[in-house]
Amino acid sequence: MKRFAVAVDGPAGSGKSTVAKAVAKRLGIIYVDTGAMYRGVAYDCIQKGVDCSDEKAVLLLLEEIHLEIQPTQEGQRIFLENQDITEKIRTQQIGQGASEVAKIQSVRQKLGDIQRAMANQNSVVMDGRDIGTYVLPQAEVKIYMDAGVDERAMRRMGELKAKGEKPDFEVVRKEIIQRDENDMNRQHNPLRKAKDAVYIDTTKMSIEESVDKILTIVQEKLGEVWV
Ligand code: CDP
Ligand code: CDP
Repeated sequence: MKRFAVAVDGPAGSGKSTVAKAVAKRLGIIYVDTGAMYRGVAYDCIQKGVDCSDEKAVLLLLEEIHLEIQPTQEGQRIFLENQDITEKIRTQQIGQGASEVAKIQSVRQKLGDIQRAMANQNSVVMDGRDIGTYVLPQAEVKIYMDAGVDERAMRRMGELKAKGEKPDFEVVRKEIIQRDENDMNRQHNPLRKAKDAVYIDTTKMSIEESVDKILTIVQEKLGEVWV
């Protein structure tokens, strides 16, 4: 069977990772969460006291970094120097740090090369910000997932509450807007819908509806019965 790639891009909270992971499981192929790699670099910076926006210092750290990505049945695990950091990188602070290191071109090049190598070896569902536009411009299926900012902030609130936190809606909403600003306006590979990507507004969609919609698109594009 020929390898294929499903690229899923979109802003924070649009539902990419939840939906992409479920789509990969249904298709029986691996899920690659590229955001986790940027978070891994930010985590390393924060641990070592490096400012995520200090390009020179981040580049020095990048020369030494040992990040490993392991696809699993449940999604993906990420290791930094053999330490499993999959859960540790899921904080707001590391999310903001990730969007700072993501502005640096050499960071994008290095992580983009790792992502491309993974897609050269396996069929993948890969989510991020620049997958359809830069990492895998030849992907067979491209999806751009979006949702209104209030809905995305509500989703983030739900996640934080589930962790026992007491988030403030306005603070969470401002962080989402700040992240959109960083991701859409950075100089290198900003978040954009690829011309040939299918736009899906998930504001009023359930996770299951989004998964079904993408599976239908995959089926149409690949012209075979996968699901
Ligand atoms: O990866 P991304 O930041 O785009 O979003 P996510 O982490 O997949 O989704 C953020 C949160 O929204 C998760 O808790 C999802 O369960 C939830 N979600 C939702 O309630 N409805 C959707 N249609 C999609 C996601
Ligand atoms: O899950 P969430 O949408 O909050 O973010 P993420 O996918 O974990 O990505 C964290 C940050 O990494 C994003 O805000 C982007 O700035 C950056 N990123 C990127 O620049 N390019 C990618 N392919 C993936 C993530």
